[in-house]
This record gives sequence, C-alpha cells and structure tokens, in this order.
Amino acid sequence: MNEKLLLDNLRCIPDWPIKGVNFRDVTTLFKSAECVKEICDDMYELYKDKGITKIVGIESRGFVMSSALAIRLGAGIVLCRKPGKLPCETVQESYAKEYGMDTIEIHKDAINENDVILLHDDLLATGGTMKAACQLVKKFHPKKIYCNFIIELESEFPNARKEFGDDIEVSSLL
Ligand code: PRP
Ligand code: ADE
Repeated sequence: MNEKLLLDNLRCIPDWPIKGVNFRDVTTLFKSAECVKEICDDMYELYKDKGITKIVGIESRGFVMSSALAIRLGAGIVLCRKPGKLPCETVQESYAKEYGMDTIEIHKDAINENDVILLHDDLLATGGTMKAACQLVKKFHPKKIYCNFIIELESEFPNARKEFGDDIEVSSLL
C-alpha cells in the first residue's frame, strides 16, 4: 500500500466547517486517478475473500469508493442517506458528530439475512456516524458486518472504533 501517495494528496483545511476542526478534504484524493486506483486496490485486497454481497455507502463522501469497490468485488450498493432523500419506507438512526447532530436512513428492503455487509465511509472522527450506521444495519440481521474507512483520526478520537461492537471488524487505509 502506498500510504505516502495518499497522504501527499490529502488536503487539510483548518477551522472548517467550524473553528477547531481540522477538516481532511478527500476531494483532493478523488480527483487523482492514481489515488482512486490505489484506494480501490487497497480496499479490494482487504475484502476480496470475505464474501461481501453488499456495500453500504454513507452519504455523501462514502458513496464514491463504495461504487468503485462494488464493481471490483461483484457486490451490490446500498445508499445510507440523510433524511428525506429516500423515496420508500426506511429505518432511521440519529447521532452526534464532530460538528453537530444528524440522522441517517436505509430503505427497509435494502438488506436481508443472507447478506455479508461492508459499511464504507471516507473518514472516521468521533464515530457517531458509523455507530449509527452499524446500529441500523444490525436491525437487518445480516450474516456479518465489516466496516471500512479511507481515513481514521485515531490520535484525535482514540475510542471511536470501540463504539461499533466487538462483532464488527474495522479497518482503515490511513
Ligand atoms: C463526515 C464524514 C463522515 C462523518 C465522520 O460527513 O464524511 O461521514 O463526517 O464523522 P464522525 O465519525 O464524527 O461521525 P458529514 O457528516 O460531514 O457529511 P457529508 O459527507 O454529507 O458532507
Ligand atoms: N467529519 C468529521 N470530522 C471530520 C474531519 N476532521 N475531516 C473531514 N471530515 C470530517
């Protein structure tokens, strides 16, 4: 894995969207063909033998690599969205994050008990978003849940991944 390539292409913006937050801007990774390939290849290596049937991408930056990886893994894609965006009946969770409160939801018929789920987001900070996403997905009783991020802010939020539950395997590239 070429960690240096990814770190060299990641832009950090101090005090955005509010004072005190050092925002890691993954759009500078996504605009680089080399970085997109690196991220996709690295994620594929992690999950190629896990029997993943669906990737749950978290709005909005989690959608990007979910799509690319789903094609490589031969998996489907489920959208985990902010409220009011999905047209059919949904299951919801509300949560606290680094800069405010939010709610996410998934269509009620999106996942079944035979699925092996990979939850993907661009970044793990407080863990509020992914904890809510894990709780949502657990309601569908899939066979197994994996969690993946491009970036984990472990030194700023050392306890974030402990929130998801012992039964969930978590990995991140950076
Ligand atoms: C960011 C990021 C994660 C979440 C991580 O999304 O893409 O989803 O925050 O923070 P947490 O670990 O503290 O929950 P944001 O809520 O800004 O939404 P967006 O991707 O739609 O801009
Ligand atoms: N989401 C929550 N905290 C963030 C951060 N520091 N950078 C990018 N996305 C975030």
